[in-house]
Amino acid sequence: MKSRLLIVGSLSIDLVLEVPRLPAKGETIIGSSFETFCGGKGNNQTVAAARAGADVMLLGKTGQDEYGQRLRDTLIGEGVDITHLMADSTQKTGIANIWVGPTGENSIVIVPNSNHALRPQDITDRAEIFTSAAVVLMQLESPFDTAAQAAQLGRQHGAKVVLNPAPAPIDGKLPEQILRNLDFIVPNETECELLTGIAPNDETQCHKALDALLALGVDTAIITLGERGAVYKTRGMSAPIYKAAHEVEVKDTTAAGDAFCGALCGAMAAGKSLDIALDYALAAGSLACTKSGAVPSLPDKAAIEKLMTHAKI
Ligand code: RIB
Repeated sequence: MKSRLLIVGSLSIDLVLEVPRLPAKGETIIGSSFETFCGGKGNNQTVAAARAGADVMLLGKTGQDEYGQRLRDTLIGEGVDITHLMADSTQKTGIANIWVGPTGENSIVIVPNSNHALRPQDITDRAEIFTSAAVVLMQLESPFDTAAQAAQLGRQHGAKVVLNPAPAPIDGKLPEQILRNLDFIVPNETECELLTGIAPNDETQCHKALDALLALGVDTAIITLGERGAVYKTRGMSAPIYKAAHEVEVKDTTAAGDAFCGALCGAMAAGKSLDIALDYALAAGSLACTKSGAVPSLPDKAAIEKLMTHAKI
């Protein structure tokens, strides 16, 4: 049985500023710290899955620069197979500028650089790696046609195809060429509202939003709800199922969604049920909020299982 998770997505270096509050338009404020971390949603989800114990491979593109080398070295250190991580001599590595406020809230601007040089042909040229994938996971920091090509090859080779629609398109429209090959969609609250026009604020709105997501053609829709946990519905279910988050001391919410998606898909690739995979995902997402930075905040399997066990007592 196949058990590999294949992630097709982005890698970036995060330039992180801690600020007393998110600045208003035209305002200059004084921050308290500046650090650089490995990030990018594809990279974060890959490290999250690897630390949670998954057999994971990342297909993506960095520049041939210092930032790209740092990302590659970090992935090697995590035991990730980077055979299909390309380095483009004509591009700079992607970057993200992140402001983190005192209660862990953030604002992010990304400049995709090499991530937007990941083209459908790069995916087609590596079609053979889709044959060993149980799950294919994508985000939207790569071009739409590239994500569509990955979804199509995933479907063709019998993998579960999962989209974390982050960042969501500003017009709220996901291309049909991606949607037609998706099994799962996993937006957060903001992305859900952009995609469906419905803010998942209460049970009624969550149910409506899940139905709107299922109407896009996927089998299962999962909405992450921050400290409220997550809610999901699979086609044919009469009502959604809610799963609670863990109570943690929040330091920085950056990459919490990535921890969730990486752990979820890693567990599904390993053959766990959706219910159990969601338990792993919620524990991983909660733990990622307790530390600063994207990659440094991602928990390992022992920490995830400890929190899950603790929650059952
Ligand atoms: O999801 C968090 C990530 O979003 C950050 O690491 C940053 O790189 C942006 O892509």
